[in-house]
Amino acid sequence: MKRLVIVSNRVPVPKEGLRPGGLAVVLHDLLALQGGMWFGWNGTTSADAETTPPQIQHAGGVEYATIGLTPAEHKHYYTGFSNSTLWPLMHSLPEFIHFERRELSTYWAVNERFCDNLLPLLREDDTIWIHDYHLLPLAAQLRRKGVNMPIGFFLHTPFPAPDMLAIAPDGGTFLRDLLCADLLGFQTSDDTANFIFAAQRTAGAKLVAPDTLSFEGHKVRVGAFAVEIDPDAFARTAADAVEAPELKQLRSSLAGRKLIFGVDRMDPTKGLCDRLAGYDRLLESYPIWQRNVTFLQIAAESRVDVAAYKALRNELESMIGRLNARRGQADWTPLRFLTRGSPRRVVAGYMRQAQIGYITPLRDGMNLVAKEYIAAQDPDDPGVLILSRMAGAARQLDAALLVNPLDHDDLADALNRALGMPKAERRDRWQTCRAHLDGCTALGWGQAFLRTLEATVA
Ligand code: G6P
Repeated sequence: MKRLVIVSNRVPVPKEGLRPGGLAVVLHDLLALQGGMWFGWNGTTSADAETTPPQIQHAGGVEYATIGLTPAEHKHYYTGFSNSTLWPLMHSLPEFIHFERRELSTYWAVNERFCDNLLPLLREDDTIWIHDYHLLPLAAQLRRKGVNMPIGFFLHTPFPAPDMLAIAPDGGTFLRDLLCADLLGFQTSDDTANFIFAAQRTAGAKLVAPDTLSFEGHKVRVGAFAVEIDPDAFARTAADAVEAPELKQLRSSLAGRKLIFGVDRMDPTKGLCDRLAGYDRLLESYPIWQRNVTFLQIAAESRVDVAAYKALRNELESMIGRLNARRGQADWTPLRFLTRGSPRRVVAGYMRQAQIGYITPLRDGMNLVAKEYIAAQDPDDPGVLILSRMAGAARQLDAALLVNPLDHDDLADALNRALGMPKAERRDRWQTCRAHLDGCTALGWGQAFLRTLEATVA
C-alpha cells in the first residue's frame, strides 16, 4: 500500500494519554491504518522557526513532521490572510473580510516553506493529501519543484459562488494552483458546482466530463465528499456519559427545566449573536417558556488575535449580560454561556440530555456537531435538532427543523415548536435524520476520497 502523507496547517500531535477530537481522530486513524506521515504547523511560534528543520515524532503508528511559525508569519499568514481574508471569503461573509497585500505575500511564502520542508521527506510511492484553505497554493508549488506523485486536496469550508471570488485578492491564481492537484474534494455538490464554474470562467479550465476539468493539458477530478462521523461510537459515548458526575450536576441544576444546547468555536460564521437574539425572541414572544427552559451554549475561544473574533467576543459578552439581566429572575438564569472547551465525552452527554440541539451557523462547510447531536439521542425519546439551512449538513439532515439563521422570529418559532413537539413527531424526524448517518463512518469518508484519488491517477 502506498504511504499516505497528510498536509494541513494545524497538526494535532497526540499528547501523552490524550486523543485529539473530531476530524483529527479520523485523519490519525487513516494514517495509522495505511501507514503514513502528517506534516504541518505544530501550533507554536518562535523567532528562529524559519531556520529550524521539521521536528519528527512518532505516536500511535503515525509519523508527525511539524514546523513552527515565526511571530510575523503567524500574524500575516495565520491570523492575517488565512483567517481574516480567506476564511470569511470562503463563507461568503464579506463584512468580516480584512485584506492586506503584504499578508498575501507572507501567505505564499509560508506555503513555499511548507513545500521546501516537505520535499526532502517525500518518497516516490507517496500519496499526498492536502487539507483546507491555508494551503491553496501548495499543490502547484510541489508540482513546480518536480513532485509527480498523486496529490489530492480537500476543502473543509464551503466554496463560494463565483461573484464572491471576484473580491478574492488574486482569486485566479488560487484556482490555477488548485488545478495542479489530481483530485479536488468539497463538502457538497453546490461547493463543487461553484468551483467548476469559477475554474472555467476565471482560470479558463475546460469541463471534459461531468466530474473532470482539463487545465493546461492536465486533468483534474472534482467531487463532493461529505465529511462523516462515527454515529454508533458517538451514540455509545453519549449514552455512557449520562451517569457521569458532570451530567448529574447539570441535571440537578436544571431542576426539571428543558435544555437547549449549542456547541461551537467562537467564530463569526457560527451565527452566535443571532442565535442568542432568537432565544431572546422566544422568551419575549412565547412567555410560557420563561422559567421552563435553560439555554447552555459552549463557545470555545478561537483565533483570538483576529479582529473580527475580538469584536464578536465583545458583542457576545454584552448580549449575554443584557439577556440575563433583562429576562432572568432571582432563581432563574435563562442563558449559560461557557468559553472554555469541555471534554468530548461530557459534550456528548450534554447533547443527549438536551431536548433541543440549537445549531445555527450563518454558513458552514458541513457542521459535524449537527450529526453528533443526532447520534447522541436516546432513540426512545429523542430531542429535536434545529439546524441552519446554510450548513452543509442541512442537505442530509433535512428532517431537522431547518431555519434561517438571521431571522430571529424564525429561530423563536422553531424553538417554540421544538419545545412543544409531541414524541411521535420527534421520533419520526430523528429516525429520518439518523438513517442518513447509517452505514457512514469518518474513516469511510477518508477512504472514499483516497480510493477516488487512486482511480483518478491510475
Ligand atoms: C475549521 C477549519 C480547520 C481548522 C479548524 C480550527 O474547522 O476548517 O482547518 O483547523 O477550524 O481552527 P484553527 O484556526 O484553530 O486551526
